[in-house]
Amino acid sequence: MKYTLSFRIWHWLNAFVVLGLLSTVFLRKTFLSWRTNSEILLNKLADFDITITTEQAKILAKSIRAGMWEWHIILGYALATLVLYRIYLYFKDTSHKENFSSLSLHKKGVHSLYYLLYATLFFMSISGLAIHFHESLSLTKELTHTIKEIHEAVFNIILIFVPLHIVGVVIAENKDEKGLISTMVNGKR
Ligand code: HEM
Ligand code: HEM
Repeated sequence: MKYTLSFRIWHWLNAFVVLGLLSTVFLRKTFLSWRTNSEILLNKLADFDITITTEQAKILAKSIRAGMWEWHIILGYALATLVLYRIYLYFKDTSHKENFSSLSLHKKGVHSLYYLLYATLFFMSISGLAIHFHESLSLTKELTHTIKEIHEAVFNIILIFVPLHIVGVVIAENKDEKGLISTMVNGKR
């Protein structure tokens, strides 16, 4: 057994949640962007001879987006829970831990990327929760804004990691690590 059942379940739940979070960001920045949609609302309503102010159009567009964005927060709680569970597994489940110094240079690179990703997921959870609970935490407006800017900048690491990881495991599967992906499904080497 290379990966325990708990570790495999963790991996696939985490993959699902992270892809979900990326989807909510994608929607917020494209089809449900308040900038684009407030203009559509403004122009289409004008066709019907209804005039609204840009401020009203912005309120409408943001309320259309709100239901979708709730999923960013729901999946955000799920991610924070998964990060905690991964820390617990790190201490409890040593099944697949390999000695870092005995790895090939390539594997050292791959494992370093995983460490970077874990640190990133940890940061995204803490910063995301801080923005969401800024009032209860009595954070100032400026500080909340700064945290949000860093949260948004660090998001790029995830955006790069995910396709790189998927392409990477597919290439490895087809070259010299046959069964790599099914190992993450059935746990066997
Ligand atoms: C959906 C397509 C995906 C496939 C087929 C896939 C497959 C795999 C495989 C085969 C491994 C083991 C690779 C190795 O031994 O180096 C792995 C590890 C890993 N995957 Fe994925 N993955 C996918 C998506 C994701 C996503 C979206 C994330 C989230 C960010 C993710 C996070 C990780 C992490 C953190 C590890 C390292 C686990 C560890 O050893 O601590 N994966 N994945
Ligand atoms: C993989 C993890 C995550 C990614 C990639 C991600 C990405 C992003 C991005 C790109 C934004 C900026 C959106 C914009 O203004 O256009 C954002 C905002 C935000 N995120 Fe995350 N996030 C993640 C995890 C979390 C978590 C765990 C939470 C915690 C609940 C969270 C809560 C928030 C909040 C509250 C905002 C501000 C929304 C607003 O200003 O209305 N995020 N996130």
